[in-house]
Amino acid sequence: MLEVRRVNAFYGDSQVLFDMNLAVSSGEVVTLLGRNGMGKTTTVRTIMGIVRTRSGTITLNGTRIDHLPSHAIARAGIGLVPEGRQIFPNLSVRENLIATARTPSRGGPGWTFERVIELFPAVGTRLASAGNQLSGGEQQMLAIGRALLTNPLLMILDEATEGLAPLVRQEIWACLGSLKKAGQAVLVIDKNVEMLAGLADLHHIVEKGRVVWKGTSAELRADRSLQLRYLGV
Ligand SMILES: Nc1ncnc2c1ncn2[C@@H]1O[C@H](COP(=O)(O)OP(=O)(O)O)[C@@H](O)[C@H]1O
Ligand SMILES: [Mg+2]
Repeated sequence: MLEVRRVNAFYGDSQVLFDMNLAVSSGEVVTLLGRNGMGKTTTVRTIMGIVRTRSGTITLNGTRIDHLPSHAIARAGIGLVPEGRQIFPNLSVRENLIATARTPSRGGPGWTFERVIELFPAVGTRLASAGNQLSGGEQQMLAIGRALLTNPLLMILDEATEGLAPLVRQEIWACLGSLKKAGQAVLVIDKNVEMLAGLADLHHIVEKGRVVWKGTSAELRADRSLQLRYLGV
């Protein structure tokens, strides 16, 4: 579904992605793992067209998206929950949810307002509140709900559990489990290798802007030296 092939990307003169390769198939949960500063967020920003590729291709269902503007990439079917959430602080929770909502165009899971509220009942009780009145965990759920309501082919979550209390993290992990069960394709970036190993189909370890290892959850769990070397866990 999503294919990133030999992508090179820069900030100014400094190269951050080096022949980055990555693929997510429909219904799959795929991870990007790696320490801070290795290029995970830059990969996401390049997929979204916020950072431009210098070379290489990015395709979504076989169509190139790497020359499209960001809004067109979102409309093509990628829903982003960015690092730091970035909900609209002055819009109500309801407005945050519907501002970018779209009806499903293809036979995906078909996320509706009602289904999202079912997934996150806590958000449902705060519909009239302003976005910035929510707790960090509620804002994260709102950000996920908002992305789901665009009915994306692919959801991308960048550090969705970062800075949240353990109980709230559990809710986010449970939500990811529900998404997987619903057949939603997800690219997820997170530091919690153990939780991801219980959830994801395929993992990529990113080191200095390249994928240095790719494998299944069983392969990841079996290789302690890999975890020590690249993830520091
Ligand atoms: N806006 C930017 N301008 C210049 N360099 C950046 C910018 N954002 C990130 N970087 C650099 O790019 C590298 C990769 O960062 P990033 O993709 O955010 O890593 P990760 O998400 O894996 O922590 C780091 O060396 C970081 O300092
Ligand atoms: Mg990051």
